[in-house]
Order: sequence, then structure tokens, then C-alpha cells
Amino acid sequence: MKRNTPLVVGNWKMNPQTRTAASKLFKEVKKSINNARFTEIVAAPPFVYIQEIAKLRNGKKIGIGAQDIHHEKLGAFTGEVSLPMLSSLDVSYVIIGHSERREMGETDEEVNKKVAASLKADITTIVCVGEKKRDSHARYFSFVEKQIRRACAGVSRNKLSNLVIAYEPIWAIGTGDTATPHDAHEMRLFIQRILTDIYGRNSAMNVRILYGGSVNGKNAEELFVDGTVDGFLVGGASLRADDFGAIVSAVETHAKK
Ligand code: PGA
Repeated sequence: MKRNTPLVVGNWKMNPQTRTAASKLFKEVKKSINNARFTEIVAAPPFVYIQEIAKLRNGKKIGIGAQDIHHEKLGAFTGEVSLPMLSSLDVSYVIIGHSERREMGETDEEVNKKVAASLKADITTIVCVGEKKRDSHARYFSFVEKQIRRACAGVSRNKLSNLVIAYEPIWAIGTGDTATPHDAHEMRLFIQRILTDIYGRNSAMNVRILYGGSVNGKNAEELFVDGTVDGFLVGGASLRADDFGAIVSAVETHAKK
């Protein structure tokens, strides 16, 4: 089976604390992934740093992502940032429905509006899903299924090549408690089955499925190979250039065509 182009996204969350530190981190990250050839790499800094970081790119080796968007293009939405604004700063990836945003009150309906707006604008749209905890009755599968079906409601098949699903079990985020490669593999197959059910197999196979939750330079290889995911959404380790670079190299080693 032909693998999709791997994707590794660094979600910086609300870090680092200053503009100077953000530029420094980006320069280090750029150096650490310098040898990458086969992997799509993205940094998703806080909004306020995007413009400066986009300028430091010198070429297209690292894509720029945003951690959220408002679904409207402009208007009376105090504190919000729209997709056209971000596109004008060279943002070509967005993360939507991260569990930390859902925890702050973001609903499946809002996630769906954002996903629709972002796919309409032909932006690579990374939708986060994942259960809070695992129960012995495996109810987390139906939870994830509901999140995916709601996020994709009304999304047409011809937009799917820009859709990415990031499976991020909440119990694994920032805890050091990673899903096993088996867990990741099982969830990958499950997500693909849901997408196949909605869109048919050919379109579903184009959707990249990432894993996120305490990924680091040490566990990335196993998760990539045995977990059969298409890449990673990385939080904590994306703030450490060496660790992020090690994740990218683990992916590179196995992604060579
Ligand atoms: P983590 O975060 O890698 O620090 O667990 C992942 C995420 O929240 O995207």
C-alpha cells in the first residue's frame, strides 16, 4: 500500500513567552529538520508570532500553521482571528478542535463550521479528536466516531485531500503516557473505516491520520512504523528543537520512497 506523505506538526500552544524566544526556537527547529526530504513539516506558533516566523522561513521547508480560526471572514467578533487574515500571513495549515479548546467550551458544531470554512478555503485542515479516558467497554470508539461525523457534516468528498485527522487521546496529552503503537494502529483503522463509510474507500485513503499525545524523539519511530499513522501532532516536544528534529528523523527513516 502506498503511504501518504508524512506530516509532522509542532503545536506550540501558548509558548514561548516572548517574541525573541519564539524566533530563536523557530531558527533552532529549522536547523534540526534541515536534512528532511520526505516529510511535510509545520510549525503552529501563537497568532502573534506568525508574521515574524513566516519571514524567517527562507523557503518553504516548514509550513506555518494556526492553532485555531474563526469561521467567519470578518466582522464583530472581538478577539477572534479569521482565515483570510491568516492566509495573508502565509498560513497554510490550521488546527481545529484541539481538546484544550474543546475544554474551553468549543462545541462540535463550532468545530464543524471551522472545518467547513477552512476546507472551502483550500487550507490543510487538521481536526483533533480523542477520548478523555478509556473504559473497558471500548465506548471511546463511539465517542471518536461521533466527533468525526460531526466535524465532517456537510463536507464533500472533493475537499477530503486537505483534511487531516489527528487522533489525540486526552489522557496522553502532556502526560508522558503515550498510546501504544497497537492503540494508534487500531484507531487509525477505525477512523479510516468511518471515513470509508461516509466517503468511500478511495477518498478516505487520502485523509492523513496523525497521532498526538506525548510524542517524543524516543517513541516516534515505533508509533510511526507499528502505529501506521501518517505522522504526528506534537506539543511539548515541539518546543525542544532537538526532540522535534529526532521525531522528524524517525519519520524520515521510514518514509523514504
Ligand atoms: P503533547 O501535546 O505532545 O505535549 O502531549 C500534544 C497536543 O496537544 O497536540
